[in-house]
This record gives sequence, structure tokens and C-alpha cells, in this order.
Amino acid sequence: MHEHDVLVIGGGGAGLRAAIAAHEEGADVAIVTKLHPVRSHTGAAEGGINAALREGDDWELHAYDTMKGSDYLGDAPAIETLAQDSPEETVQLENWGMPFSREDDGTVSQRPFGGLSFARTTYAGAETGHHMLHTMYEQVVKRGIQVYDEWYVSDLAVTDHDDPSDRECHGVIAYDIKTGQIEGFKARNGVILATGGLGQVYDHTTNAVANTGDGPAMAYRAGVPLEDMEFVQFHPTTLPSTGVLISEGVRGEGGILYNSEGERFMFEYGYANNDGELASRDVVSRAELTEVNNGRGVEDEYVYLDMRHLGEERITDRLENILHLARDFEGVDGLEEPMPVKPGQHYEMGGIETDENGLTCIDGLYAAGECACVSVHGSNRLGGNALPELIVFGARAGRHAAGSDLGEAEITTGRTGEIEEEDGLDTPVEPGAVSASTEEDDAVADGGNAGGDDDAVADGGAAVVEPDETVRRAVERERTRIEHLLEKDTGVQHASLRADLQESMTENVNVFRNEEGLKQALEDIQEVREAYQDVYVSDPSRTFNTDLIHTIETRNLIDLAEAITLGALARDEFRGAHWRQEHQERKDDEWLKHTMLSWNEGTPELWYKPTILEGEDKTYEPKERSY
Ligand code: FUM
Repeated sequence: MHEHDVLVIGGGGAGLRAAIAAHEEGADVAIVTKLHPVRSHTGAAEGGINAALREGDDWELHAYDTMKGSDYLGDAPAIETLAQDSPEETVQLENWGMPFSREDDGTVSQRPFGGLSFARTTYAGAETGHHMLHTMYEQVVKRGIQVYDEWYVSDLAVTDHDDPSDRECHGVIAYDIKTGQIEGFKARNGVILATGGLGQVYDHTTNAVANTGDGPAMAYRAGVPLEDMEFVQFHPTTLPSTGVLISEGVRGEGGILYNSEGERFMFEYGYANNDGELASRDVVSRAELTEVNNGRGVEDEYVYLDMRHLGEERITDRLENILHLARDFEGVDGLEEPMPVKPGQHYEMGGIETDENGLTCIDGLYAAGECACVSVHGSNRLGGNALPELIVFGARAGRHAAGSDLGEAEITTGRTGEIEEEDGLDTPVEPGAVSASTEEDDAVADGGNAGGDDDAVADGGAAVVEPDETVRRAVERERTRIEHLLEKDTGVQHASLRADLQESMTENVNVFRNEEGLKQALEDIQEVREAYQDVYVSDPSRTFNTDLIHTIETRNLIDLAEAITLGALARDEFRGAHWRQEHQERKDDEWLKHTMLSWNEGTPELWYKPTILEGEDKTYEPKERSY
């Protein structure tokens, strides 16, 4: 068994920042990651880091913009922490050598991004995430932090107490992709999940194939609630044939959106009379699809993003990467032609419920970055707010897990304080009916450590199980599950299940949603879940068995697709990225609250907790949101 003070799961921006912070606190820290850190999806982040660095700007403006962008579903204390800490964290990156783009006088450049009242997006060309990743990886190497790369963490080692808030996390179980070994990793202080996004729930996404929501799915099944999962961001400018991201930085620099009639539709049809192309993403994505639905799309599918007027010098100076992406993935020369773009899944606003220190309701289990919901993005994230989230909350989680006293977090986790029980979905599809695995299946298909295999309870109760034993038992359970998958020589393959799931989610749980489609998606998910009971791995080898990894990941996608859809069906209002055909208004009296979903031993349970609008010195009063 491997053993460290702090284990960070995932080597992207949040994971690297957390590891550095924990190391600075004196912890023996290791990163366990299914990819080499510099291949993490943070490397695909193009746009930039929102940070109030300049005269005329301040953190309060950043906080206000973020709260407005969230459509008043973000929590004020977390939003204010993000805005307050982002400048210092950004300067820290600069001090570590991050090659930010600069003005002629040497100052770091900032550009406008959607929904911002000040041009505060700090960037490095159109490959900010790539440089951020390399800058922090250099610090990890310099500090000698151990990295277990190409180790796939497939489960958590958590005690079996009945109440999730009594549970403790003592480590993880990981599969060495290179050798096929399954081993336990014990964490003396804490495990930090930093596993990134879940874009593979959809078939048109900017996310990498590796973005399968492993962290949220594992935490959820271990008993941590998922928060606000229905809020999925669809980025307005992705390439139609691949989903590859064309950065908002193009519009930040002055790029223009046209429909098939050559009209600048954001103004022409009044979608955003002030900010036009730089309205927030939910607004622009809906506008594009409305154009397509009204017959003004190109090939009935997309619109044009034109940057030619910016001129070759400015484009190659600030957006060179965009030229490469448009040419390589769509065969379009952005200097000579407008680029075809359409909305694509980009980011999950919800995730593992955490407090501001990244702590979940399970002692010793933390989360940071896209996999977490602290919550700063509410129902719609502003472009340029993901990278600061990684570094601000990654650093806080790292310090806290290492034992640093950061004080009480302002947001509590788990079912404490004022909560509201869901009195049933107004739909024939009951949450329990769409989820359930049978008890018999638990050990193999669900493998849940909470309530699945009850050895610990049978042996006399979880409270008496030592941390080492908790990890050992979890390793045995995982070996059984994985052996079973490898030994089975017939059945259904993950690829067809994944495709069915992605197709239904893309069709039914997209930018525009309605009750019929959401119910259809739940039925489809349930069919995929049932079919998954018969899944098998066609590649029997023990080394670099990506078939096996994808099979395990597919189970995570099923649970998360269901979580997104259950929340979306229950929320009968229009807020931020969540638009409902039958409910086209924001209902503050009823819905100024976070959607919480507990795994509840395979019968998901919805409940709600209030949004926190009281900040340090002021309360953010919900206003009508226009751009
Ligand atoms: O458009 C972009 O460059 C993406 C930025 C972001 O998601 O924050």
C-alpha cells in the first residue's frame, strides 16, 4: 500500500495548485492521475483568468459580475473569495514564470470577456491553460512532489457509517494502466478530488475523451451530495464537426457573429443590445440556436464567427492558436474566411458539494476545480472564471488538507442547516425508478463503497475499522469488480452504451429543454443502466487496457447523466443555462435554492438548500439580467 499525507487525484490546474499548496504546508503529497499532468484538459483552456489587477477595476466589480452571470444562484461568500484571491494567485503564476501576453510597456495584457464590466481577463495568447499547466508542473517537479501518472483511480476508501456525514475517507484505489496492478493508496490527512469535467456525457463537447466525471461519480456514490448538476454550460463557439473550442477571446478581441443572411444577429434581433457578442454564454448560445431554428442558420446547423477585420498582425499576435484550430479541425482559414461555430457542451457548473476549503461532508475528502461546486458559478459561469477557480480553490483545498488552519468555512456541507425535502417529482418517472441497481449488482456493477459490500458492518461496525483496513477492504472489492469485468467474455460493449447515452443527452438535455425530452432522457439513461449490467471488456490484456478504463468510466457517465437530468426535470423555471420550454421565467420566490442530489444507496434523493446572497458587506439583490 502506498501512503502519503495528502493525495491529489488529477493532475490538471486544480490538482497541481492543490499539491503545491499542500507541499508548502509541509505535507508529504502525491498526485495520482490517469493522464500525465501536462496532458490534462486544463491545457485546452484558451481564454484566460479573470483577475481585478488594474486601476479602475476591483474585486467587488468582479464579484458583482460573477453573481449577475450566475443568475443569482452563486453563493456570495464563495464568489467574493474567488474575486478577492484571484489577483494574488494570478501574480503568483506570473512570479513562477507564466508567459502572460503583454502590452508594449511590459504590463500584463487583459481583454474583455462575456458578461464582464471591465476588461479583466488575463491571458497568454489563446493558450492560457496550456501555459498555466506547464508553469505549475514545473513547480511540482522543482519541489519533488511524487506523481503517479497513468494510474486510474476507480474508487475511494471510505468508512461504511450509515450517515454519510459520519464517514471518513482514508484513501483511494487505483489501477496502474501500465501494469494492470490494482493498489491501495492511503491518505493520512486527506484526499483531494481534482478530476475536472464530465463533458463525455454529451457527444458534442469541447471536453477531452478523458473528461468522464470520475471524481463526482465516486464522491456521489460514497455519500457526498452533488449540487446544481442541471446547470451545464454550452459554449457558443465550438467547431461544428468536432466540438473543438474557438475561444471567447476571439469575440473579446472584436470578433463578430453573423447569421446566414449576413446579419449581426445579437444586435439585429435584440438578443443583447448592449454587449452583443460579449453577452454571457447562456445568452449567446440561445441566440445562435434561435437563429438556426428560425431558418437563419448556415446548413441548418451553425452560424459564422468572423475575425478577418482584426487584421493578420493582431490575430497572429493574440489568437494564433485559433488559426491553427480552425484550419486543422475545420479546414477553414480564419484570416480569409469566417469560421463556422455552434454551441457545444463546455463546462459543468455543478459538482461535488464543498465548502470554501474544498471539504465535503465526508471527513478527509476534498474537491476542487470543475469537479467541485463551492459554488461560484451558480446557473451560468462567466468565461475566464474557471481558471481562477482552479488556482484559488485548489490552493485552499491543498492547504486545508495539509492541516493548515484556514478558519471555519462560511459554507457548510451535507444535510445541515435549512434544507428542504423534495416532495416528489411531478412526473411518472420517480427518481428511485430510474437509478436503481439491485443489491446483487452492487458489488460488481456499482461497486459502491457506501452500502454496497457490507463487510465492515458485518464485522462489527464501521467505527472500529482502522484506516489501513478500510483501504485494504476497498482494494479487495475493486479487484473483485475489475476481475469480473475482465473475465466476462461476452455481453455488451461500453462504446455502444456510451454512444446511446451521449445521443440522448445531446438531443434532450441541451440548451433548450422541455419536460417530454427530459423524461425521455431519463428513460434512455435507465435503459443504458440496465444494459450496463451485462457490459464486458473485449480486450483481456492487463497492460494499457483502455477498453477496461472506458468501461469503468461509462458507469460514471451514467450516474452523472441521471443526476443532471433529475435536477433539470425538477427545476421548473428558466435560470441561467437552464431554459425550460414550459417555464420561461425565473422564479425567485420558489427557486432561489441549490439543487442537491444524494445517492442514497442507488435511489437518488433530491433536496434543496438556500442560495447565500449575503456577502461580506452587502446583500446581492436579484435583478433582471440583461446584457
Ligand atoms: O472561450 C474560452 O476561451 C474559454 C474560456 C473559459 O471557459 O473560461
